[in-house]
Amino acid sequence: MATMLVRGGMPLIGKIAVSGAKNAVLPLLAASLMATDGKTRLESVPKLNDVTTMLEVIRHLGGNINYIDDEIEIDCQNLNGNDAPYNLISQMRASVLIMGPLLGRLGKAKVSLPGGCAIGTRPIDLHLKGFGLLGADIVVGHGFVEATAERLIGNTIYLDYPSVGATENIMMAACFADGVSIIQNAAEEPEIVDLACFINCMGGRVDGAGTDTIVITGRSAFRAPYYRVIPDRIEAGTYMMAAAITAGDLVVENVIPEHVVSVIAKLREIGVAIEVLGDSVRVVGNGNILPVDVKTLPYPGFPTDMQPQMMALLCRGQGTSMITETVFENRFMHVPELRRMGAHIRTEGRNAIIKGVANLSGAPVAASDLRAGAALILAGLAAQGVTEISGVTHIERGYADIVRKLQEVGADICKK
Ligand code: EPZ
Repeated sequence: MATMLVRGGMPLIGKIAVSGAKNAVLPLLAASLMATDGKTRLESVPKLNDVTTMLEVIRHLGGNINYIDDEIEIDCQNLNGNDAPYNLISQMRASVLIMGPLLGRLGKAKVSLPGGCAIGTRPIDLHLKGFGLLGADIVVGHGFVEATAERLIGNTIYLDYPSVGATENIMMAACFADGVSIIQNAAEEPEIVDLACFINCMGGRVDGAGTDTIVITGRSAFRAPYYRVIPDRIEAGTYMMAAAITAGDLVVENVIPEHVVSVIAKLREIGVAIEVLGDSVRVVGNGNILPVDVKTLPYPGFPTDMQPQMMALLCRGQGTSMITETVFENRFMHVPELRRMGAHIRTEGRNAIIKGVANLSGAPVAASDLRAGAALILAGLAAQGVTEISGVTHIERGYADIVRKLQEVGADICKK
């Protein structure tokens, strides 16, 4: 099994470019299933294992894929399937996002129930509630869930929790419903806005994305668009924290600053110098890492996907910090691994109390999920000695070319 080796102590200095957003491109790929006319062209598609998996799902459904430089062309004019098999869903929960487009376009969608994963049970009850309110029949059994509908009828759907995936899935299904649908208590993430823009480029009518109330007016056909994926705000935040933890001086390029407001605010509270320069952010660490308290919340709150990385940074803080994880019930899998590197962390339910230490020490550690892996890289970059990180496939699901990008700004990191 591949591992990453990181020798700590090198300040990161230079420029690092952010790739297209994983959590934007996956719903956009699902939405390409809606296009009955023409071929979708996507620009700025990140080279990630999750993208490969989603493209396999689209092929499985009868779509044709062409790679043209760093663009992807997707032809879904002739679909011949409506199910996503277990082996693909089990690799990536986001495959469940094909349900909305298939239910809307074909009147049927069948996916294997996504298993839980390292960060929690992650049910899809809100997705199914939305499909039901639009008129679909839902059958769950033998590890599969199937949604069918002769016609979808516009309706108002209140989400008990502003679920990102549920908002995206219901939005795509509602695009085909007769009349108007309203999603209340909708997720407000930038990736929701990107999906709405993509659908509107297809001839759809989605209003209010980015607020807690989204209005979708049904249409019967959608044309394939040419679209550029937004930059990855979590990748950007991760590299900003890498500059902070190594007391480096990094210009993170291809950033939409509005998407990382909460991360910039918390890094400034910690004492890190941050300069916003158009679509770049310059981060200058000075070795001081003041203790702060952080609570993860739905956007625009501090993102749960930055929680492990923030924890790694605060392990090197001058004082005691507290992190409260409100989004997922089990997103502290990186804690025992950070402890192996000398971190002082105590967890109590959804709270982690971090007592900063002067030094972390390199150790063999295991990445349990994508962002935990990123946290271990950050800790390794600041640790004394060498850290060997297993579970590299988790990391490569969400960070395109991370080893090369870090090497180019001075990190002593390699993949073995
Ligand atoms: C998306 O996952 C992201 N993934 C996650 O990023 C991110 O952590 C999460 O949103 C929150 O921001 C993609 O966009 C591909 P949710 P999603 O539905 O849609 C509960 C990463 O590291 N819930 O907003 O699955 C759920 O259990 C990944 O890039 C229900 O109870 O997240 C969780 O506690 C990790 N019922 C909370 O809501 C449902 O039907 C948030 O989940 C759906 C969700």
